[in-house]
Amino acid sequence: MYLGIDIGTSSVKTVLIDEQQVLIASTTSPLDIIRTQAGYSEQDPRWWWSATQKTVSDLQKHHQKELSAVKAIGLSGQMHGLVALDHNGAPLRPAILWNDTRSSAEAHFLDTENQAFRKIGGNAVMPGFTASKALWMKQNEPELFRQINTILLPKDYVRFCLTGTTVSDMSDASGTLWLDVEKRNWSEELLEICDLSLSHMPDLVEGSEPSALLSKDIAQNWGMTNDVVVAGGAGDNAASAIGLGVINPGNGQISLGTSGVFFSVTDRFAPAASSGAHAFCHALPDTWHQMGVILSATDSVSWLSEVTGLSISDLVDKMEQTDPLLSSPLFHPYLSGERTPHNNADACGAFFNIKRNHHHGDLMRAVLQGVAFAIADAYDVLKDAGGLPSTILATGGGSQNLTWLNYIASMIGHSITIPKNQEIGAAMGAARLAKLASGQKIDDVCTQPELDQIIPPNPAIKTALTPARQKSQKLYQALDALSD
Ligand code: XUL
Repeated sequence: MYLGIDIGTSSVKTVLIDEQQVLIASTTSPLDIIRTQAGYSEQDPRWWWSATQKTVSDLQKHHQKELSAVKAIGLSGQMHGLVALDHNGAPLRPAILWNDTRSSAEAHFLDTENQAFRKIGGNAVMPGFTASKALWMKQNEPELFRQINTILLPKDYVRFCLTGTTVSDMSDASGTLWLDVEKRNWSEELLEICDLSLSHMPDLVEGSEPSALLSKDIAQNWGMTNDVVVAGGAGDNAASAIGLGVINPGNGQISLGTSGVFFSVTDRFAPAASSGAHAFCHALPDTWHQMGVILSATDSVSWLSEVTGLSISDLVDKMEQTDPLLSSPLFHPYLSGERTPHNNADACGAFFNIKRNHHHGDLMRAVLQGVAFAIADAYDVLKDAGGLPSTILATGGGSQNLTWLNYIASMIGHSITIPKNQEIGAAMGAARLAKLASGQKIDDVCTQPELDQIIPPNPAIKTALTPARQKSQKLYQALDALSD
């Protein structure tokens, strides 16, 4: 038995799988986000640990026997979040999350003053990345910054609670921007620029390697009888890729979660910093990937649901009463700024072309189209960066909406394949990494999932929506010139 734990942004999800990778059970526990100002997005790291414990105690209710037989645990999680711990291992402040854009001045400084970040870190420095968040803390909370003993990423904080050790894996560590992504090691040069050193950083292992053993107390509480290995694990996108068998060059995935991510495996470190593409390590040795990331995919839908007071399924029902080829109004999904391709923390969400006859269904359609356009922009970036995959698998909660996948497949001009098992996701990838860390072979574990259906590009949709996408791109230029 293996456990995969995904520390997401909106919930912690835990899956229990057997030796044949059959899903025995999965549990989730929701998480809040603290948003005290525009651009701020924080969570208390202790919430992740309580939510993790809750998911496991829920599993214990009906699956204690299987849980007792767990051999290894894999972790995955939202990337980039800054978890700053003091000498006692206590969080000094709430974690500053991946979609928090307060550090845009610091990101700009690191990006323009120090070519080293693009060269060694392989990426343009963006406010989403941990390095800019740490520099923000140094400038704005110097007293707290001085007390930092250890910096961890979200899933690695949970590992700290599970094992008492500070370890990260290469895929997640890439997203700090302090990693020498080609050499797969911390870069002292990049850390020093932020007034940090190796002593602040966790040890590094590959995602598929063991990192530490589960502490005896916790194993006892959870009724686990083996010496339970905790695998290196992965950032959530790399973990989903492992879950889908997206491990060889040419394999790609599109994830519609809180963020929207285009992910493509590369056989080498392939930086394309000026395009806004991310170039990170994958969760397997000697493997890398490129990503184009938009910050608000399903988060745009959640926002529309919050502000209209309608459930997402009501919004979908109302949308289905409207014409799928209509492209009015337009929506910009830049509610938390944007990464690929704009790298603009100040970009804003917008509705445009609203008319008196528009209803909730029209707004919902505009949101799905606007996110599809943004994902197509990210896809074009990967195309230019040389990382275009030949197969694209869909993952994430939003991928259950076929209208959305139709829009995306049509706008990028590439078919998208939906796997059969909707449970496949980052937690399943984490469980697979647990299996690898207990000694099993990559080819045996990271198999392709059973496929459900292929969504081909629809030329009628492309023809109908291309003028709207072009108008939306022009609108971005115009609004950017006017934004604060
Ligand atoms: C990737 C990214 C997001 C988060 C949240 O760079 O920031 O996908 O990992 O899931």
